[in-house]
Amino acid sequence: MSSQEIEVFTVCRADAIERGGAKGFNLSRIDESGESRPFPIVVLRTFGNDYHGYVNRCPHDGVWLNIGSGEFFSSDRAFIRCGRHRATFEIDSGFCIDGPCNGKALEPVALAVVDGDVCLCGVKLVEDNGFPDPFEDSDETMDIMIHPD
Ligand code: FES
Repeated sequence: MSSQEIEVFTVCRADAIERGGAKGFNLSRIDESGESRPFPIVVLRTFGNDYHGYVNRCPHDGVWLNIGSGEFFSSDRAFIRCGRHRATFEIDSGFCIDGPCNGKALEPVALAVVDGDVCLCGVKLVEDNGFPDPFEDSDETMDIMIHPD
């Protein structure tokens, strides 16, 4: 078990996300039983140039955080906000500070920026998955850039 290599997967170019922006990715991962599972994530880049990754799923009701408007942020962009019932999360910790899942947290995804690429670490991904796109009903939802102005 300890001999397993850490998987590293390039998600996107680091500069593909603006400072203060976010981008969703609809990935698939291999679970413990070898099955492929949908693995939607969101990568956020702060104005201070840190990158944070979370599973794109509200802990309260399990929906994508950007459901509806495609927006990941509160109107002042200071927090992540679920589009369904408006749970509000800290960007750097994923901790919910307001809303129906107050006290819970988003599931973090380990990221590293390597040679200008945002890379996902420690997750076995399916690069060409056979899953129907869960976002197909909401077209642009998973490829939204939020510009600081
Ligand atoms: S589903 Fe996210 S706050 Fe309700």
